[in-house]
Amino acid sequence: MLRASFTLDPAFSIGQLDRRLFGSFVEHLGRCVYSGIYEPGHPRADARGFRTDVLELTRELGVTTVRYPGGNFVSGYRWEDGVGPRRPTRLDPAWRSIETNAFGLGEFAAWAREAGVEPMMAVNLGTRGVQEACDLLEYANHPGGTALSDLRIEHGDAEPYGIRMWCLGNEMDGPWQTGHKSAAEYGSLAQQTAHAMRMIDPNLELVLCGSSNHEMPTFAAWESTVLEAAYDEVDYISLHAYYREEDGDPATFLAAGSAMEDFIQDVVATCDHVRAKRKARKRIMLSFDEWNVWYAGPGNDTWEQAPRILENVYNLTDAVAVGSMLIGLLRQSDRVRAASLAQLVNVIAPIFTEPGGPAWRQTIFHPFAQAARYGRGEVLRVEPVSPVSETKGYGEAALLHATAVRDDERTTVFAVNRSLTEPMELRIDVRGIEATRVVGHEVLADADRFATNTREHPDRVRPYAVTGAAIDGGRLTAVLPPLSWNVLHLS
Ligand code: AHR
Repeated sequence: MLRASFTLDPAFSIGQLDRRLFGSFVEHLGRCVYSGIYEPGHPRADARGFRTDVLELTRELGVTTVRYPGGNFVSGYRWEDGVGPRRPTRLDPAWRSIETNAFGLGEFAAWAREAGVEPMMAVNLGTRGVQEACDLLEYANHPGGTALSDLRIEHGDAEPYGIRMWCLGNEMDGPWQTGHKSAAEYGSLAQQTAHAMRMIDPNLELVLCGSSNHEMPTFAAWESTVLEAAYDEVDYISLHAYYREEDGDPATFLAAGSAMEDFIQDVVATCDHVRAKRKARKRIMLSFDEWNVWYAGPGNDTWEQAPRILENVYNLTDAVAVGSMLIGLLRQSDRVRAASLAQLVNVIAPIFTEPGGPAWRQTIFHPFAQAARYGRGEVLRVEPVSPVSETKGYGEAALLHATAVRDDERTTVFAVNRSLTEPMELRIDVRGIEATRVVGHEVLADADRFATNTREHPDRVRPYAVTGAAIDGGRLTAVLPPLSWNVLHLS
């Protein structure tokens, strides 16, 4: 039996977490929109074509924000194609797909209202620029009395959409991006776009594109240059990261949540370096607006509409890794104020659908839903004493990854045991938080670490309650099964 421990004390608080940490992402990519959230004619579709089974699962998942419409897609997108009665069919160069534009901004705003999520919009800074971003903002948010706001009203939406958070492009450092730019070019365009958007509405929250991932050769230099250009105009910088198990090396994969924390700290250091140089008072916050497990799949060469691409089927190991990533985001939530699990449906997603058929929960749905449900209040600093394992990717990594949140009602501990084979006895000193009782211990684990949820067996992997965890003399003891995600509720 492995042994690990930590202390919970309200004096060591990271601060109130922002519920925007539990966001997701809907891109016009594969079947995320078409036959994902939107499928007119489906037996469960409502009058607008929204799949109500997917809406129900989205609410159950507890998603707070949804980023839209891309992703790489946005860098060639004309938003005007997706509003009003005329919907031209276009080529989408990003995913070599056909885009019918049957679903656009108005549909997304209506869907977001139904789902109870805050919409987060990206503007195209690949093939377009300042004017188109301002036009989109006027159409979306201005109450009326101008050409574009009246057009929205004419299209049936009398009320403005009130979108607060806007991404200034997507992954503009990536050579694959339509309209890819150098850091200097992008920094200047983002600054001008942000400035003009703020002239329309100074209260917007604007997200500058950081690097596409930690491994980009321009990482950190990119952040530094674009922040120098746009520091005063933006509130957040974006981070994107995808992880996967490779080369029979689960230990490196399972340490992804810690790698994510290192990535976050590198971006924080770069933001604060620019802050110091500028003698600025403002601190830039982080929007981790794409993260997940992603196994490369076949590309799309046939210019299909809504092709089956990036339809990863996740197993138990992936779910534990996702749980650890959620723990990483919570542990760094003093600076990470928004995050989006990429994506929501079918495309590297927690929800899976069949056209005309059912929708079900992938394994990764469960840790996300539990973190979103119980992730409220303040995050407590947790410094585990843990056994370590050697990983090829990151050297020594702790086998316990954990965090804790606390509100007026309860304290909740989220913990992952990364060992594939050994159970772990976890001891927590809870005298500081005066907890006396374990109200529940839920576990996601499985004898088969490759177990998946499928159409035939949609609930093969799901959380279950275990007994045995208890508090005695101010010390909690619980056993975490091998390779498991755990939620402990204390009162
Ligand atoms: O989420 C899938 C893709 O990953 C997005 O379109 C892009 O931003 C990233 O590279």
